Amino acid sequence: MSKQIWKPGALLSPLPPILVTCGTMEQPNVLTVAWTGIINTQPAMTYISVRPERYSYPMIRSSGEFVLNLTTANLVRAADYCGVRTGAKTNKFNDCKITPAPASTVCAPILQESPMNLECKVTQIIELGSHHMFLAEIQAIQVDESLLDEKGALNLQRANLAAYAHGSYFELGKKIGTFGYSVKKKKKRTK
Ligand SMILES: Cc1cc2nc3c(=O)[nH]c(=O)nc-3n(C[C@H](O)[C@H](O)[C@H](O)COP(=O)(O)O)c2cc1C
Repeated sequence: MSKQIWKPGALLSPLPPILVTCGTMEQPNVLTVAWTGIINTQPAMTYISVRPERYSYPMIRSSGEFVLNLTTANLVRAADYCGVRTGAKTNKFNDCKITPAPASTVCAPILQESPMNLECKVTQIIELGSHHMFLAEIQAIQVDESLLDEKGALNLQRANLAAYAHGSYFELGKKIGTFGYSVKKKKKRTK
C-alpha cells in the first residue's frame, strides 16, 4: 500500500444513519444523526453529536430525552429526508409516512416503523465545537418480536440494517464472522 497524508476529517466509516426522535407525542420531531455510537456497557450509554442550529437541538437540550431508532433499508429514504429537511418548516412524520409512538420510559416518542428503539436520557452535554455531544444512558429498548428467534434470542440480521459511509447509504450484506470466531477452536470431525 502507498499512503497519502490528508488533513483531519470526519472520515470514520461505516456509521449508523440513526433516526433520532425527540420532543413529545404532541410535538414530535425526527432528525438523522450519524455522529453516534455506544460509549459504555454498564450502564449502557450512547451519545449523539448535534449542531446547536438544528431545530431539534433545543428540544433535546431542554427535555434531556431522545430515542435512537435503528434504520433499516426500508427506512433509508426517510432517514435521508429527515436529514435534509427541518422540522421547523415541515412535519417530517407526515411527509415520510412514518409514525411517532409512545416510549416506555421517556416522553420523547419512538419511531413505530423502526424495529429497534433505544430510549435515552441525557446525562451530560459536552460543547465540542461545531457539534454538542449529548451523552445519555439507555433506559429501555423496544424490539420488534419479528427479530426474535424461537428461543427469544435477538436475530438482528433479519432487520436489514443500513450503514452510512462517506455520503452513501448501504444495506448490510453477508455475515463474514461472529464475535471471537478468530480464536475459536475448530470442532474435530468425527469421521
Ligand atoms: C446521513 C445524515 C447524517 C447526519 N448526521 C448528523 C449528525 O450527526 N449531527 C447533526 O447535527 N446533523 C446531522 N445531519 C443533519 C441533520 O439531520 C439535518 O440538519 C436535519 O435537517 C435536522 O433536522 P431538524 O432541523 O428538524 O432538527 C445528518 C444528515 C444526514 C442526511
